[in-house]
Amino acid sequence: MSSASYTTRGAIAVITLDNPPVNGLGYELRRGILDGLDRAEADPAVKAVVLVGAGRGFSGGADIREFTTPKMYAEPTLRTVIRGIEAGSKPVVAALHGMAMGGGLELALGCHFRVAAPGTQVGLPEVKLGLLPGAGGTQRLPRAVGVETALNLIVSGATVAVEQLRGTALVDAIAEGNLLEAAVAFAEKAVAEKRKPTLLRDVAVSYPNAEGFFQFARTGVGAVSKGYPAPLKCVDAVASAAAQPFEEGLRTERSLFLQLIDSPESKALRHAFFAERAASKIPDVPEDTPTRAIRSAAVIGAGTMGGGIAMSFANAGIPVMVLEVKQEALDKGLATVRKNYESSAKKGKLTAAQVEERTRLVRPTLSYADIAQADVVVEAVFEDMGIKESVFRTLDEVMKPGAILATNTSTLDVNRIARATRRPQEVIGTHFFSPAHVMKLLEVVRGEKTAKDVLATVMELAKKLKKTAVVSGVCDGFIGNRMIEQYSRQAGFLLEEGALPKQIDGALEKWGLAMGPFRMADLAGNDVGWLIRKRRYVEKPHVKYPRLADRVCEMGRFGQKTGAGWYRYEAGKRDAIPDPAIEELVVSYSKELGVQRRKISEEEIVERCIYALVNEGARILEEGIALRASDIDVVYLTGYGFPPFRGGPMFAADTAGLYNVVRSMKRFAANPHGDPGFWKPAPLLERLAAEGKTFNAPAETRP
Ligand SMILES: NC(=O)c1ccc[n+]([C@@H]2O[C@H](COP(=O)([O-])OP(=O)(O)OC[C@H]3O[C@@H](n4cnc5c(N)ncnc54)[C@H](O)[C@@H]3O)[C@@H](O)[C@H]2O)c1
Repeated sequence: MSSASYTTRGAIAVITLDNPPVNGLGYELRRGILDGLDRAEADPAVKAVVLVGAGRGFSGGADIREFTTPKMYAEPTLRTVIRGIEAGSKPVVAALHGMAMGGGLELALGCHFRVAAPGTQVGLPEVKLGLLPGAGGTQRLPRAVGVETALNLIVSGATVAVEQLRGTALVDAIAEGNLLEAAVAFAEKAVAEKRKPTLLRDVAVSYPNAEGFFQFARTGVGAVSKGYPAPLKCVDAVASAAAQPFEEGLRTERSLFLQLIDSPESKALRHAFFAERAASKIPDVPEDTPTRAIRSAAVIGAGTMGGGIAMSFANAGIPVMVLEVKQEALDKGLATVRKNYESSAKKGKLTAAQVEERTRLVRPTLSYADIAQADVVVEAVFEDMGIKESVFRTLDEVMKPGAILATNTSTLDVNRIARATRRPQEVIGTHFFSPAHVMKLLEVVRGEKTAKDVLATVMELAKKLKKTAVVSGVCDGFIGNRMIEQYSRQAGFLLEEGALPKQIDGALEKWGLAMGPFRMADLAGNDVGWLIRKRRYVEKPHVKYPRLADRVCEMGRFGQKTGAGWYRYEAGKRDAIPDPAIEELVVSYSKELGVQRRKISEEEIVERCIYALVNEGARILEEGIALRASDIDVVYLTGYGFPPFRGGPMFAADTAGLYNVVRSMKRFAANPHGDPGFWKPAPLLERLAAEGKTFNAPAETRP
C-alpha cells in the first residue's frame, strides 16, 4: 500500500505524504512519492507538482519503525527520491506545515520551491542520534541559509521556526490561510511566469575565508563534544559543501555518514532512543488499558523529596496538597519550594507569574481530611517501615475510593506497605530521584497486587510530570540502587587495594560518567549508604563490605553538607578538593588490612566498577525485576549520569562482548584480595556469554 496519494488541481499535481503519525519517510511513502513524480512527469497536462503532508506536519524524517529493518536501505532511498525531483522537467513545490525535520527537511530542500505555513518547525536533528543528515542536508542547507546558520543548525540538531529563516532560499513564501491552496497558487504562478526553477544544488556556496572559519568551528565544537564524534563530522560535512563541487560534497557526506552509522557512539545513542520508548511498554498491560483521571494530588512529608515531588506536580499544572505532622516542618518545606522557584526565576527559567502560579498550586495542610479527595497521594516520610505502615493505614481510612496510594520508599518492601491497607491493588511505588523536580527518572514499582490500571495510570502520569518511567519489581533498592550498591562496594575494594578516591572518580569520569562514586557519595550524603550498610551487616553477615566508608562517616564526614567527606569542600562551593587526611586514612587502612597496595590501572577501575553494575543488572533481569535489559540502561542514563554515548551499563557490556566481560570477571575473581563470590557471573550472563549472545535483543542494537 502506498502512503502517498496523487491528485491533480488543474495543471498542478498534488502528492500528499500520508504516513501517520508524522509522515515518516518509510519505504512505501518513498515509493509513493517517486511514483507520483513519474506520473506527473508523464502527464502532459501537468505543469508543476506540489508535495504536501497530511495530518500534523510535512514530515518528521525517517520512519523510526524502519530503523531496525532492511526496508530502511531499500530503494528508492530518500536520496533517490530527491534525485527524481531534480531529474524531472517540472518544478516541484514543497508545502510545509507543522514540522519538516531530518529527512523531511532534506526532501523539501531537494524541491525547487518551498512554501511554508507560519510556525513550521524545521531542523536536522540527526546529530542527536550520533549521525549527520545523510540525504544531502549538509550540502543543501548551507546553500539555502548560508554556511554559519547551517553549521549551527546541523551541529546542534536544533529546531527553529521557519520565520527565523525568512529571507533565505529555504523559504520562498510564508503562506497565511490554506497552505495547499497557497502552494498550488504559487506553483501556477511560477508556471505562468515561466519562473526558472532553481535547485539548491546549483547554488554556489561562497564564504570568504571558509578554511579559517571551519578551523575555528572545529576547535569550538571539539571542545564541547568530548566522547561524541558526530558533531565534528557535521563540521567536516558542511566544510565540504564550501570546499567541493556539489556531487563531490554529497559523496563526502555519504562517507562521513557511513562512518558514523557504524560508530559505537551512534549505536549507543540510537539504543538509548529506542530504550526510552520501549520502557513505557509493559507486556501484560495493553496500551489501551483504561486509566484514571489525575486532576489533583497530595504528598505526605515536606522534606527533601516531598517538596520536589510537589513541585513536579505543580510544574505539570496539577494542584497538590502537602501534608506534614508539624507546622514547623510544613513551613520549612513550603519555604524551600518557593525558594527553588524563585531561584529558577532568577536564572530566567520561569517568569514571576509562573512562580506565583506554581507556588499557588502547592498548598499546605496538617489534616488528612484535606487530602481525602486527591486522585493520587505520594508518601515521602522517613524511611521507616513502622511510620510508613501507619501512614498507609491512615490513607486507607481517609482516601476516597479509587485514589492511587503511592510510596516514594527507596529500599522498603512495597508489598508490605500495601498490606497495611485493605486496598493493596491501589498501592504502587513511585521512586523519584533527588532533586525530584529536576531528575528525569521515575522508577515505578509494581507490587504483587498492584492493579494494571493503577500501573497504566502512573505510567501516564509520569509522562505528564515529564519523567521517564521505568517499571521495577519489588526488591531492596529496586533497579538503580540495588545495582549501585555493588558498584560502590567495588569502588571501596579498589581503595583498599591501592587506588585513591580521586583516581577512581577520575577514571570513571574520563570514561564518561558525570560523577565518580566518591564525588557522588559526597553529594548524596555518606550517611545514607552508612545506614544501609549497618542494616546489611545484620541481614547479610557473610557478605564482605569495604569498611573504610564507615570510618569516613564516623569522622562526621558526610559529604558536601558537612563540608567534608571523601573530599573537602570550601564554604558555598561544590568543588571536590582532594584531602590529604583521606589519603592518609586510605593508605593506613590498607596497612591495617595487611594489604600490599599496588598501582591499579584506569582500565581495571572502570571494568570492575562497571561490571559490578552489569552482574547485578543480569540478576535483576533474570529475576524479572526489570522487564528488559534496555530498561536498566534507561535507569542509568536518566538517573545516574551514565554517558549516553555508552548506551547504559547493559549496552556497554554488550558492546564489550559478554564473553570478554565474563573473562574479565574471572580474572578479578583470582585477585588474592578480591572477593571471588562477588565475581561469580550471574547465570544469565554466563549463559548469554557462552551462547555468544547479548543482553539487548539484536533488533534493539542494530542501526
Ligand atoms: N533523599 C533522597 O535522595 C531520596 C531519594 C529517593 C527516595 N527517598 C525516599 O523518600 C522518602 C523521604 O525522604 P527525604 O529524603 O525526603 O526525607 P526527609 O527527612 O527530608 O523528609 C521526611 C519528611 O517527612 C516528614 N514526616 C515524618 N513522618 C511523617 C508523618 N507520619 N506524616 C507526615 N510527615 C511525616 C518529616 O517531618 C520530614 O519533613 C524516604 O522514604 C526516602 O527513602 C529519598
